[in-house]
Parts: sequence; structure tokens; C-alpha cells
Amino acid sequence: MAPLLFLLVYLILPNGRSWIRTSMDSIRIRGGKPLYGKIEISGAKNAALPLMVACLLTDETVTLRNLPHVADISTLINLLCQHGVSAHLNGHGDGNSNGRSISLTAKEITSTEAPYDIVRKMRAGALVLGPLLARIGKAKVSLPGGCAIGTRPMNLHLDGLEAMGATIEIEAGYMVAEAPNGLKGAEIRFDNVSVGATEDLLMAAVLADGVTVLDNAAREPEITDLVLLLKAMGAEIEGTGTERLVITGKPKLHGAEYSVMPDRIETGTYAIAAAIAGGRIELTNTRADLVTSVIEVIEAAGVDVEITDDGLIVERDPAKPISGVDVLTHPYPGYPTDMQAQIMALMTVSSGASMITETIFENRFMHVPELVRLGANINVHGRSAMVRGVKQLVGAPVMATDLRASVSLVLAGLAASGETVINRVYHLDRGYERLEEKLAACGADVERIQGE
Ligand code: EPZ
Repeated sequence: MAPLLFLLVYLILPNGRSWIRTSMDSIRIRGGKPLYGKIEISGAKNAALPLMVACLLTDETVTLRNLPHVADISTLINLLCQHGVSAHLNGHGDGNSNGRSISLTAKEITSTEAPYDIVRKMRAGALVLGPLLARIGKAKVSLPGGCAIGTRPMNLHLDGLEAMGATIEIEAGYMVAEAPNGLKGAEIRFDNVSVGATEDLLMAAVLADGVTVLDNAAREPEITDLVLLLKAMGAEIEGTGTERLVITGKPKLHGAEYSVMPDRIETGTYAIAAAIAGGRIELTNTRADLVTSVIEVIEAAGVDVEITDDGLIVERDPAKPISGVDVLTHPYPGYPTDMQAQIMALMTVSSGASMITETIFENRFMHVPELVRLGANINVHGRSAMVRGVKQLVGAPVMATDLRASVSLVLAGLAASGETVINRVYHLDRGYERLEEKLAACGADVERIQGE
């Protein structure tokens, strides 16, 4: 009962609105206003999700601070509660994210099933596979399926767990996995870099018998955040932040307290908001070193960036033109795929041309036709998009298809003349905390229109 009560409290926003009712909401922007002010960056959704899953590895309590107040976190709490985790939330979603924490205790795993209904909505739910196998030797997890940005298979997760001694069958859309005698350490080399597979196998390896080597591992800062939490829980891991992680399994891990890293994608998104609208925004509670590749690109586009003790200041004189810059997405420390749609929005109003190439996902240009509705000049050729800058975008109703595509339309709306209405805001609510409030505080004319 208690976990459900906390979940219910968490699903209610401070103003009494619930995320459950936001799916039909839209965001209206009247563009053309430069932005001046300060934005506090929230904890990273993509770090918080695996950190929360790590609670399954111990019967003691894991407490996470700086938890972002976004819908994906609620979805994952729901899933963890189904596995028998008790969840206690402290603090509010009132802008003071540092004061918000969650305590998760997986005293006993009461169910090993991660149902389709949850995993299809949020593929990070599939990350419970490795930890459940490691902790109790079995798991039944729905295959997440494809999504708007690509097919997103699970082969690297499954091959790695099989190399560690698990047997896995695909039955009626579920990955049914068993390791009755526990997982064994193994040498695993990923054919390509995967954030999720690295996280899944890391969590499996910390409780496996013997040493596991993960080669060609992802180096994203969210992986480092997970390694640091696992170490705080008693795990032995070498190679933090490198492409070769060496994990010596332990029979048991213990509880820990940990603060979620700042959201580097939210940081980069608001940096581009200042760039596209013009003005000066100070981003606080974050780290400039997390967005080095983004800073390089926007500086090349003619935007000024100053690094501060707790973040960065991004400034562009609204009269100064934006230069076209070519961008190639790449695993960290390269330019992030999760920032591709946002930089494309900026390039639509450059004074030149820009070639944007997506190398991580095969179908991540769904924002292109919507940007074109706003007057952008973009041609897609396979994995590259040629963006020729236009003098002025013009507001229109647009439709979001995924989280980052949605926010690119918000950014374009800030620069467009007239009114832009972004529909299907539930995508934004999955990963951006109080987006319209944060932008409005800097002078943007933006509001949420509640759906029926
Ligand atoms: C994480 O997804 C992020 N999600 C994504 O952010 C991000 O775009 C992605 O990493 C890349 O940085 C979370 O952290 C919750 P991958 P993940 O496994 O782990 C292929 C956002 O907007 N692959 O690194 O699912 C895959 O198809 C989201 O916040 C396999 O082939 O991504 C893709 O082409 C969207 N086999 C590439 O690897 C596998 O078994 C990278 O995917 C696994 C992945």
C-alpha cells in the first residue's frame, strides 16, 4: 500500500495537475523574444533511470538525491513497485530539485516480470533484466520493440547475459531468462557502443561470480554515474569513464546515498534556446564539461559561452547572425544524438548551410517535416540532412513525435514569428521538468494549454 500511496503523491504536480491528464496538453509559443535570465538544470533523467534500477541489486535502501520531476521517473517507480520495491519520495517538484530525493528498498523481489504495458512506453524499463538475473537468477521482461527513432534491438544485452551463463528464450514477446546457478564473470566485447547494454551488463556483473570485462563499453557520463553509485554500494569496478570496464563480482551489495548528475541534454537544450532566441541565459546546477562537444558547435556558430563554477552563461546578440556548422552525432565524447534535433532547429535560421549526420539511430529525422512546416529548408539524404538557413521561421501548429523532436519544435517556435502550437506534449513531459516555466522565467512568451 505504502509504495502505491507515494506513487500517487508523486504523480500529482504541485499545482494539482496530474501527468496522467497531460497527454492532450499543448504548448503555445509566441516567438521572437530574446531570453534573459537564469535556468536551474534538473537531475539527469537518463542517469536517474539506471540508478533507480540499481536498487534491485541489494536488500538495503538506495537513496538518490537531485531526482528530476519528469514522467519517465514515475513510470519507472511504477515498474519497480511491481517488483516489490518500496519507494519513498521526499521534497517537491517546485523548482528545488536538489531537495527532492527518493529512497528505494528492494527487501524482497516479489515479481520478476516487467510487463509490456510499461516497457513499451519506456524502454529503460528493460534494464531490470540484468539486475533481476543477478539477484535472484530469473527474469521475464517484455521486449521493448521499436520506437519513433529506430528499431532499437536488445541483442547486445542478450548476448552479454548469455556469455555470463544465462539461458534466454523469447516467448510471446518476452525475454524469459534464467541463471539458476548464478551469473559467471565473462569477457564481453560489444560490436557497437550501447549505453543501455553497458548499464545492463554492469549491473549484472557486480553480483556475478568472478571477473567480467566489458570492452568497447559506452563512456557516456551517465555510465560513470552508475559506476559511482555501484561503487558506493560496495561494487569493485576498474576503468571508470573508459571503454574497458573490469568488474569483480561480490556476493552482496549494500545500500548507499547518491546525488544524480546534472542533465547534460537539458543543459545543451537551454544553451541552444539562448542561441536561437538571442539574449543571455545563465545555466546553473550543471557542469560545462558534460557538454563540451555542444559548446564547440555553438561557439563555431557564433554564440558566446562563458564557463562558470556551477555551469555556463550562453549569450548571443539577437542582431548577430548564426553561422552554419556541420554536425555528426557520435557516442560520448562526440556530439550527442539526443542534441541532434535541437542543433538542427538552430541551423534552420543560420546565415549559411549545415550538414547534420545522424550515426546512432537510423530514423531520427522525424522532426524534419515539422520544422519544414515552420518554413525551414531541409533535405534529407539517407543519414544526413542538408539544412539551408532561412531568414525567418513562421509559427504554425506542429506535432511532436519523440522527446527531443518535441523540444526542437519548442526551440524553433522561440525564433519563429507569430504563434507556434506544439501538440502531443506528453513526449516533452517524459524528460523536461517544468519546461514552459523555465523558459517563461527568461522572458519567453510560452504557455501550456490544458487538453480536454
Ligand atoms: C540511451 O538509449 C538513451 N536512453 C537515449 O536517450 C540515447 O539516445 C541513447 O542512449 C544513445 O546515446 C536512456 O539512457 C534511457 P543505445 P539506449 O543502446 O541505451 C543499437 C532520449 O531522448 N543497439 O546506446 O537504448 C541501437 O539500436 C533517449 O533521452 C543495438 O544494436 O541506446 C542504437 O542504434 C532516446 N543492440 C545504438 O545501438 C542493442 O542490444 C545505440 O543505442 C542495443 C543497442
